[in-house]
Amino acid sequence: MPSLPIKPNLSAMPSEPVLRLEGLEKVFRSGRRSVKAVTDFNLEIARGEVVGLVGESGSGKSTVARLTAQLHRASAGTIRLNGTALPTRPNARALLAYRRKVQMIFQDPFSSLNPTHTVGYALSRPLEIHGLTRGRETAPAVRSLLERVGLSPGALYEQKFPHELSGGQRQRVGIARALAVQPLLILADEPTSMLDVSIRLDIMNLMLDLRDQEGLSYLFITHDLAGARYMSDRVAVMYAGHLVEIGPSAGLIGSPAHPYTQLLKSAAPKPESGLAATRVDARGEIPDLTQLPPGCPFEPRCPHARAECRAALPRMVELPGQSAHQVRCVLYYPELGAPGIAEIAATTQRASA
Ligand SMILES: Nc1ncnc2c1ncn2[C@@H]1O[C@H](COP(=O)(O)OP(=O)(O)O)[C@@H](O)[C@H]1O
Ligand SMILES: [Mg+2]
Repeated sequence: MPSLPIKPNLSAMPSEPVLRLEGLEKVFRSGRRSVKAVTDFNLEIARGEVVGLVGESGSGKSTVARLTAQLHRASAGTIRLNGTALPTRPNARALLAYRRKVQMIFQDPFSSLNPTHTVGYALSRPLEIHGLTRGRETAPAVRSLLERVGLSPGALYEQKFPHELSGGQRQRVGIARALAVQPLLILADEPTSMLDVSIRLDIMNLMLDLRDQEGLSYLFITHDLAGARYMSDRVAVMYAGHLVEIGPSAGLIGSPAHPYTQLLKSAAPKPESGLAATRVDARGEIPDLTQLPPGCPFEPRCPHARAECRAALPRMVELPGQSAHQVRCVLYYPELGAPGIAEIAATTQRASA
């Protein structure tokens, strides 16, 4: 009997994550100074998934996004898009193909738009550069993009200059520009932090609608834990260039495990103030990134610090019974009997009592 070709059963196979960051590192050097902005950073984002990235200013969030967008070259590590590794030194063609799939939106929609060009021009450029439209096809494609981000009628908005738009409208143009090339993943670096509180939620809802309609994935960077929880399926927490905790957003923000995430939460505005939460202002300072200590970078600030914390950088461990929730903290090491769980629970109870 002739053997039939075996058809893979795609629906039964675990799908490859859209993005996989493996051991990503970035050292910025200037003269003798070198700043280790990102250390051994690992993250996967599934198709249609929103991963929030939180941490105080200087923790390396933007550097992760810029490495992933190929605006910086990584010092080490691998970036995989749908399983395929990007070459360490991609040529112009590989970079263009990659950028078509991975787009970035920025905090300040004004500075990312050229003030001398109309909105229509700003949106026509990516369409033409990536060969998605030509000649007369471009104008209707631009209008349709504008309408997809809620700027309707598109024919009105395409003639406007950035200064004629509100902050929220400019961020909608920024989102439209990212969408123009039909990306798989959008890296959003604090896209709502410069907007009025009243329109932050509109922009977040627009991003979520687009995720549902287009199956987009997002890395959503924010200072705001309430915003991270609202937007994200999972949340990742960075401290001094390290991933210190990752897990499903409600569980992680509801009951943070890492002492640093607990500090962030205690410093954050209370839930009653809702999404109006502004900057998370954690007390103390992140360590000097030019000379990171060998152990846990949070140890000098940690209320639960013990000798083991200074010996070596803790590894990521799963919380008992919650494999999706992982934390880089010796207090959760199973071989030490996860000594910190009781201690942290007691402190948290005292704090909330
Ligand atoms: N282009 C750069 N050159 C030198 N140092 C940089 C550069 N970009 C970021 N850094 C440093 O890397 C660290 C992380 O910065 P960043 O990724 O912007 O943090 P975050 O977005 O969390 O505030 C900071 O110490 C910052 O000063
Ligand atoms: Mg930043």
